[in-house]
Parts: sequence; C-alpha cells; structure tokens
Amino acid sequence: MALIRPARPEDAAGIAEVHVASWRTTYPGMVPDSYLLGLSVPGYAQRWRRILADRSRIHGSFVAVEPPTGIVGFASCGTQRTAIEGYGGEFYALYLYDHAQGRGIGRHLMAAMATELINYGMNSAVVWVLANNPSRWFYERLGGCRLAEKIVGFAGADLTEAAYGWRDLAPLARLSADPPVR
Ligand SMILES: CC(C)(COP(=O)(O)OP(=O)(O)OC[C@H]1O[C@@H](n2cnc3c(N)ncnc32)[C@H](O)[C@@H]1OP(=O)(O)O)[C@@H](O)C(=O)NCCC(=O)NCCS
Repeated sequence: MALIRPARPEDAAGIAEVHVASWRTTYPGMVPDSYLLGLSVPGYAQRWRRILADRSRIHGSFVAVEPPTGIVGFASCGTQRTAIEGYGGEFYALYLYDHAQGRGIGRHLMAAMATELINYGMNSAVVWVLANNPSRWFYERLGGCRLAEKIVGFAGADLTEAAYGWRDLAPLARLSADPPVR
C-alpha cells in the first residue's frame, strides 16, 4: 500500500528515477526517441533538489512511497504558467512507475495537489497533457474539462498539447477520502 506525503529535498534522487523511467515508458512514439535516450537521472536529481529546496515560490510536491521500491510516483503543482483565464493553479507533473499504475495512486496524488492549491488560495487549476497521451482519459475521469490546445516545439518536433481544467478543486480534494491506495 502506498503512502502519499509531501516531497523533501532528500527525495530528489528517487523522484528523478521515476521521472526518467516513466517518461521512457509513456512517451515513445509521442516524444522523439533521441530526447528520451538523453534523459539523465543525475541531471533530474539535481534539478529536483533545487526545486524542493526553493521556498521562494508557491510550489507543492508530493511522493507516493511503497515498500520495497521506495518512491513509486510523484506529483507537483503551483501557480498557472500559461494564461488560461479563470484558472489560478496548475498541475505541473504526475508520473508513476508502470508497476504502480492503475491502483488509485494517481487519484490520491491529484487529491493531495488539489488540497495544497486550495490551501494556497487557488480554487481552480489546469493541466497540460500531450493530446495523444492516453492519460488524458485519467484527467477526464477525474472531472477535468478540455479547455484548449496548443502546438509546442519540443526536441525538434511539433507536439500538440491539450489543457484540461477544474473550475472547482473541492471535489478533487475530497478524493483523498476515497479508499486507500491498493
Ligand atoms: C496518469 C497516471 C498518473 C494515472 O495514475 P493511476 O494511479 O494509474 O490512476 P488511478 O488508478 O488513480 O485511476 C483513477 C481513475 O482513472 C482511470 N484511468 C487511469 N488511467 C486511465 C487511462 N489511461 N485510460 C482510461 N482511464 C484511466 C482509472 O480507471 C480510474 O477510474 P475509476 O475511478 O473508475 O476506477 C499514471 O497512469 C501514469 O503515471 N501514467 C504515465 C505518466 C503520464 O502520462 N502522466 C501524465 C502526464 S501529463
């Protein structure tokens, strides 16, 4: 059973491992292989150490921890980085190892982020997802409404991203009361 808790700077290496592994299983055929091959665990660990130590901006990060692996997933959120009117917060990242998927951990990490954003005074949020990533169904299942699309240049390719939005984060935050993660 996974425990969801706020991330700490010493979690950076475990988060980086999940980040790189999940990108490599999720994005083949969506993101250029050369980019996926070049992902570096030490590089992301350094980046996460910086992010988790930075107290100067509004930012919430959570990990899902499960024996014997340790960190099996992570999530991060903060103020909206794009300009979709009427939405204060943004879910920046949500990644799990393959073996941790489909057991309710994603739902509980979303609930933790929604609660965090509400505590920061943000009652609405968006997420950007690659338009052909099957995870978009997860966001729709959790009540996200498709709001917008944009094309972004990424690693030499043009990728289509879709935004999903929650006008009211309260129902999402209440998902933390769902049965514990299996
Ligand atoms: C997307 C992700 C975080 C979802 O987490 P998860 O723990 O697998 O999802 P949960 O078990 O909490 O599922 C919650 C609900 O969403 C549904 N769902 C999850 N993924 C789904 C999918 N790909 N297609 C359809 N429904 C899905 C589940 O069936 C469940 O529905 P239920 O309430 O009827 O039981 C996880 O699958 C993942 O890490 N995917 C790869 C990385 C990724 O794409 N991240 C998003 C980047 S924007």
